Amino acid sequence: MQFIDLVQQRHSVRNFSAKPVEHEKLESILEAARLAPSAVNFQPWHFIVLTEKDVLEEFYPVYHRDWFRTAPAVIVVLGDHHQGWHRKEDGKDHTDIDVAIAVDHITLAATELGLGTCWVCNFHVSQCAEFFKLPSHLEPIALIPLGYPEEQAIPAKKRKKASEIIHWNKF
Ligand SMILES: Cc1cc2nc3c(=O)[nH]c(=O)nc-3n(C[C@H](O)[C@H](O)[C@H](O)COP(=O)(O)O)c2cc1C
Repeated sequence: MQFIDLVQQRHSVRNFSAKPVEHEKLESILEAARLAPSAVNFQPWHFIVLTEKDVLEEFYPVYHRDWFRTAPAVIVVLGDHHQGWHRKEDGKDHTDIDVAIAVDHITLAATELGLGTCWVCNFHVSQCAEFFKLPSHLEPIALIPLGYPEEQAIPAKKRKKASEIIHWNKF
């Protein structure tokens, strides 16, 4: 598949079929995340993969949505603020940027394998940290529910026009 077609196909899926995700597919998606670039190559991330039904059920209150419950797998993506690059000039922590790139790899790799995903950041962060007994420098940044989409239709993309956001040679 051409990269631009993959980008067009990826969309937020909020309704999954009960079909479990093959372990090899999960491994391949996680490999795409592992290979993501990061500032100074510090790789300030961890990926907790939830596949067991009882664990998913216990985890569900962290993002209490009916549709979230339909996901047969969830990847919890952590940013490690002790490992992230902090820019000298202003101290800016690049952990979130690095994690976002890894998550994008996850969503695109999953799309290529016929799987659906959805970024989730509007979850109960402290509940999530407590769930895994995380030390304070490990921040749960995103949850990525994934599975086979229940609907096959790809919704039209709602995006700003190129003319609103792209600036050639001057701002
Ligand atoms: C950083 C980030 C956080 C998001 N958090 C949520 C969320 O908590 N819940 C949700 O249903 N969708 C969430 N989304 C999905 C967006 O709503 C979605 O990507 C956007 O509307 C564009 O639609 P598309 O993904 O289908 O192209 C999030 C997306 C991003 C990139």
